[in-house]
Amino acid sequence: MSADTGFADLFAKGLPDPSPRFAGLPKYNFVGGHGDPRQVPVEELARAASNVLMREGDKLAWYGMSQGPQGYLGLRQFVCDKLGSHRAIKIVPDDVLITSGSGQSLELINRVFINPGDTVIVEELTYGAMVKKIRAAGAKIVGLPLDEQGLRTDALENILKDLKAKGVRAKYIYTIPTLQNPTGSVLPLERRQQTVALARAYGVPIFEDECYADLVWTLPNSPPALYALDPANTIHIGSFSKTLGPALRVGYAVASWEVLSRMIGCRTDGVPGAIDQMVVAEYFRTEFDAHIKKLTGTLREKHDVLIEALAKEFGTAVEITPTTGGIYLWVKLPDAVDVTKLFAPAAKAGVAFNPGPEWACDPNSSKSHMRLCYALPSKDEIREGVAQLARVCFEQTGIPARSGNVARA
Ligand SMILES: Cc1ncc(COP(=O)(O)O)c(C=O)c1O
Repeated sequence: MSADTGFADLFAKGLPDPSPRFAGLPKYNFVGGHGDPRQVPVEELARAASNVLMREGDKLAWYGMSQGPQGYLGLRQFVCDKLGSHRAIKIVPDDVLITSGSGQSLELINRVFINPGDTVIVEELTYGAMVKKIRAAGAKIVGLPLDEQGLRTDALENILKDLKAKGVRAKYIYTIPTLQNPTGSVLPLERRQQTVALARAYGVPIFEDECYADLVWTLPNSPPALYALDPANTIHIGSFSKTLGPALRVGYAVASWEVLSRMIGCRTDGVPGAIDQMVVAEYFRTEFDAHIKKLTGTLREKHDVLIEALAKEFGTAVEITPTTGGIYLWVKLPDAVDVTKLFAPAAKAGVAFNPGPEWACDPNSSKSHMRLCYALPSKDEIREGVAQLARVCFEQTGIPARSGNVARA
């Protein structure tokens, strides 16, 4: 390992915390949004890579593949087709910006919209990394209450009214309407209509994150995207991380040119690698529906295995928020359990999970919750990992008192 250089004295002020070194992966990994390695269509991707490179490989000679700064045209066309058939979004490739994962859009939109002291409206439970990014940008967060159907439009109306009374126009409403992260809810059509109407009435843009929308079990019969209901007032983002793999780093944003042109102006890295974009487009152009059917079928089986394992090991000590797709379960333990205190002993036993407070605007509201991702572990690992977690939880808190109908001693 390299020796310290003594450069630390020279570093700029106000840097984010240093990254920890990679220390390997836990045996039972319920953390983050990894995919299922057994569902990566390796041979098909290799064939797609060969086909598209033979046909269009000479485009690598150009910055932007000779197609401008918005990304590979074939991929932008596929995004239009997919959003048209599955999300009721009618757009053309000029409306699409290919990004380095959808995470890059979160950065770019914050950069385009936020000055320190600005206000944004964010679902009370949400993607933890987004909360960090907003805080880093210096914005104030107003938490938008949720229920089992997603964002509460009565609460949204009150917040917008209240902010208006204070002379504050929020910069955006950030929402994950389809397979909300972490709760897994899908916002019903009527609430979608109310949300876009309220946002428009108060002049606040909607920032819609549909990172998981392709993983609804009932696709294509899920309600239309918010963008489909009010394109002029909505910024829509999505990703191929959850349908093919997060290591690809390919996502997209759909918005007016007024917004896209500013996002492009703020990006410093060019578009993602040309080959990545080409391969995604080439494979999904013909195989998307079949791939999604197979993938969601497997994910659903794993979801059921996780529910069974939680019921067996935690019994009545666990409350599970029902979902209809995705890769997560949002799980509540009794109030007496502070999951942040379970984290280290669970890690020692090889089990990693996301503590609820990381996914909440108000961390105290979720100290007994955890988010479990079931895409990566095998079914056996899910069963074994949950058994280990229950053992650790019992050792630390006396909960659950029974597992598999047997009292723990
Ligand atoms: C809601 C949400 N948005 C965006 C992202 C970023 O994903 P990616 O950059 O891999 O597309 C994630 C990752 O888990 C997420 O959960």
